[in-house]
Amino acid sequence: MKPIQVGLLGIGVVGTGTFNVLQRNQAEIQRRAGRGIEITMVADLDTARAQAAVGPNVKVVNDARAVIANPDIDIVIELIGGYGIAKQLVLEAIAAGKHVVTANKALLAVHGTEIFAAASAKGVMVAFEAAVAGGIPIIKALREGLTANRVQWIAGIINGTTNFILSEMRDKGLDFDVVLKEAQRLGYAEADPTFDIEGVDAAHKATIMSAIAFGIPVQFDKAHVEGITKLGAADIKYAEQLGYRIKLLGITKRTAGGIELRVHPTLIPAKRLIANVEGAMNAVVVQGDAVGTTLYYGKGAGSEPTASAVIADLVDITRLHTADAAQRVPHLAFQPDAMSDTPI
Ligand code: HSE
Repeated sequence: MKPIQVGLLGIGVVGTGTFNVLQRNQAEIQRRAGRGIEITMVADLDTARAQAAVGPNVKVVNDARAVIANPDIDIVIELIGGYGIAKQLVLEAIAAGKHVVTANKALLAVHGTEIFAAASAKGVMVAFEAAVAGGIPIIKALREGLTANRVQWIAGIINGTTNFILSEMRDKGLDFDVVLKEAQRLGYAEADPTFDIEGVDAAHKATIMSAIAFGIPVQFDKAHVEGITKLGAADIKYAEQLGYRIKLLGITKRTAGGIELRVHPTLIPAKRLIANVEGAMNAVVVQGDAVGTTLYYGKGAGSEPTASAVIADLVDITRLHTADAAQRVPHLAFQPDAMSDTPI
């Protein structure tokens, strides 16, 4: 079977990571997906930079609609971000019968209901593992691993930039602005970092998790959102002296009065696991009625961690929607000759 063809809209930090990981792990990915997966077309305003990132064998254009209009493209990855043109392009890709993979939490938290309805009407998938907590497969955990549970609450450190800032301010006594610049340099921060530091990015992600966990529409406008900009070095120091760490948490919870959805700085006893999540790492705690408390930890931002989630969605779509029926049941992608003959 010929490889599935993927068109990429926007090749920045995550797009480059996605291209590189797909190339590097091509054989494993093909085995797991049941079919090869190739990025064959890229749209980016900076065509020279894009061409340099993907090499001469990939077609690079500056018009995203040329990718959507290409009948050979099966899956469109949207990595443009934001609510504006990205929304239009995702809806156009769906209308053209393409499956969509997106890391765009802002788009889904605000317009998810419309986008999912359009995809469902057209019979295509919109997959978004990369939209929440980067490389941590929390969407799959909520939708698949914990599917038997009545989720009671979710609490998470789901913005790497703010966790990095709070950690560096506490450990190194650095100023807020200095650490924010470093987070931007490392590719953690949003294009508009106010989304990070004002808690908006975490609220987008909490909104998506809330919708999945509680089976409600995505309702970002119902979230209480407070960031870290009012925190000073003294707050962090006093919290430490009292045996607490300050973390920006995204919380969603089932209560007698309805579902709560909030993001705010929270005092956490220093000995708790989640209080010790440092740097740009993310962690999400999910409380389910059957499973009890579960904790998911990993890199929540950055090039290849986010690419890892984007590619997981590509594999899912390939396996479920385009490969042979035999591939539709997840299996171990058995490799008969891979075992070493040397006893341990
Ligand atoms: N700006 C986000 C963060 C990127 O810092 O976590 C990943 O969504």
